[in-house]
Amino acid sequence: MNMQAKHTADATTVEEGLAIAEAQDKQYNDEMATETAMQNTLLTPRFYTTDFDEMDAIDVSSVREDWDKLIAQMVSDPNKGHFKKNEDWDHIDWEGMDPDLKKEFIDFLISSCTAEFSGCVLYKEMKRRGNNKDITQLFQLMARDEARHAGFINDALREAGLRVNLGFLTQKKKYTYFRPKFIYYATYLSEKIGYARYITIFRHLEANPEHRFHPIFKWFKEWCNDEFSHGEAFALLMKTDPKLTSGMNVYWIKFFLTAVYATMYVRDHQRPAFHEALGVDPDWYAHEVFTKTSELSKQIFPITLDIDHPRWQPTLEKLHRANVQIAKAKEQGGIAGKLKQLSGSISAGTAFLTLFTIPVKKHQVPANTRLEPCY
Ligand SMILES: [Fe+2]
Ligand SMILES: [Fe+2]
Repeated sequence: MNMQAKHTADATTVEEGLAIAEAQDKQYNDEMATETAMQNTLLTPRFYTTDFDEMDAIDVSSVREDWDKLIAQMVSDPNKGHFKKNEDWDHIDWEGMDPDLKKEFIDFLISSCTAEFSGCVLYKEMKRRGNNKDITQLFQLMARDEARHAGFINDALREAGLRVNLGFLTQKKKYTYFRPKFIYYATYLSEKIGYARYITIFRHLEANPEHRFHPIFKWFKEWCNDEFSHGEAFALLMKTDPKLTSGMNVYWIKFFLTAVYATMYVRDHQRPAFHEALGVDPDWYAHEVFTKTSELSKQIFPITLDIDHPRWQPTLEKLHRANVQIAKAKEQGGIAGKLKQLSGSISAGTAFLTLFTIPVKKHQVPANTRLEPCY
């Protein structure tokens, strides 16, 4: 028997990818990274479950032409074999890395790996539970991609002596239930904002290669194209039911846009050394990513957030400060700590409400949904 270990990048199905990951789990010590990945706070990536029967009942015939093209493109699998180390992978001196940068970068990798894997688990489950051929095929393809992405981040982590144990996470991490429509809004946005984040970093480092302190960023272009396609699929799914993007649901869309943008802002501002090493001002980066995501999401959402509104930026900063206060208070502990935590949570809640009450920009949704990556 050929015992040569295959790589997650070459796996053609999610099952195969996960089997490779499981074999690796047995080989490496991974406690710290898995512990971090297990955390469930408002800001850390979660695992989701939903009403799979309802999702299985989606009929894509109204978007059949676009659907078939998108699926054919995903089946052609342009990124097979891409997500693994090759001669472009530079050696990293983890020991010599500035300790703050190392801590924040590892945190970034673990949280990205968890987010990729969260998508993988949800998509794989939908594929497993469904009978609708269109739906199960799409979810099988997306799960395949996410397993590769997670596997590749684990390659990077392993060089630092860490690894996220994906099998353990699947079994032990808490699952949050979301109704299908909330899965569409949240997942669509996370795929599109993922694209916008990766392509913005990729283009910035293309222009400023001296800031590329780790080779993984060289892979971000093909990576973000996968996320782009996943976002396209969710846009088409939403297009099949106009109710999802009209009436009261527009408030839900606003809520998810606000929550996703605010979470990204706060999470990124927790990593100053990481952004400094990249030569990126996190405020500039956030605005850039929000602008791109808003532009893309016009394909299906009838509103976008007014990120140039005078209350937007100062309130995000307030939210960030409240978050810092909560973290410090948690560390302090005791009654004084608890009180500070409470007042921090109130400020954070008020800030979120302030963001939510900023009037939105309305626009006409185009008849044709499909977009191609253009940034
Ligand atoms: Fe991904
Ligand atoms: Fe994705």
